[in-house]
Amino acid sequence: MLPNAPNLELGHLRHKRLLEGAEAIAALQTVVARDEHRRILDVGCGQGYQRQLLEDIGNVLGLDIRKTQETQSAPYGLLADICKAPFRSGVFDVIHCSQVLSVLPDLDSALSEMRRIGSDLAVYVFIVPTRAWLLVQLPSNCLSKIRAAPFFLSRRLKTDRHVADGALEHARPKDTPGSVPGKFARIAELVCRIVLPQGQGERSYSESMSLFGRWKLVLERNGFRVLKQSKLLFYGPSEWPIVPTSKWPVRFGLSSSELFISVKSTNDLK
Ligand SMILES: C[S@@+](CC[C@H](N)C(=O)[O-])C[C@H]1O[C@@H](n2cnc3c(N)ncnc32)[C@H](O)[C@@H]1O
Repeated sequence: MLPNAPNLELGHLRHKRLLEGAEAIAALQTVVARDEHRRILDVGCGQGYQRQLLEDIGNVLGLDIRKTQETQSAPYGLLADICKAPFRSGVFDVIHCSQVLSVLPDLDSALSEMRRIGSDLAVYVFIVPTRAWLLVQLPSNCLSKIRAAPFFLSRRLKTDRHVADGALEHARPKDTPGSVPGKFARIAELVCRIVLPQGQGERSYSESMSLFGRWKLVLERNGFRVLKQSKLLFYGPSEWPIVPTSKWPVRFGLSSSELFISVKSTNDLK
């Protein structure tokens, strides 16, 4: 239930991603014909956990906004923002996007770019977290926040001192720091940031909870048609076992990750 040692967390993460990737690619192969020249883009490839699995079914390019070993390894990696994808329209046959949609602040722009760079017959593999995952992460999420609180507070106090010295004067409206409503709002914001659990990316916990319950709607609203939707694995913090699809919790609908195999919907968005 509690945050674990970093190396155990990494092993757990890699294991989950490989299992999810294997299931997703098996599902993908039921809707696409075999083609080793298929052009695949792995959006937000991170550490490239699914690289080998994807290379088995085509030519893969991994794109990520963060500089990692993977984004620096030519010809596989590319450092770029998916919201400003540096590709011509219609160049990819498969777009794989595992656990990325939930952290993108501008989801609509990213989906619009993915739609643009996919060919007319492109197949999209989206792996996303669920509300159940957000719930089971709650205890470890809160504990991490409590642990980080002293660091966060001291950093915040230092920033405030700079503001008082005029160093960051331009960063905030001039009347905000001194005014009573301004101070109250800042204290309230600070308390909320320490006490409330964290959401994904820049989203609050409640915004993430809302988004994780309506993935299908979000995809449809952005011009995708969902061909397959399935529960993947059930997992929580790294001490918990990873429960595969064949076991009862997942069969009864309890899962931490979900898969959407989609294509572009034929209706134009506008
Ligand atoms: C939760 S990680 C998932 C990594 C990997 N796909 C996986 O399944 O383990 C999210 C990844 O998305 C990347 N990312 C976030 N925003 C992005 C953007 N605008 N464009 C490209 N990658 C982005 C992050 O740098 C990070 O590597």
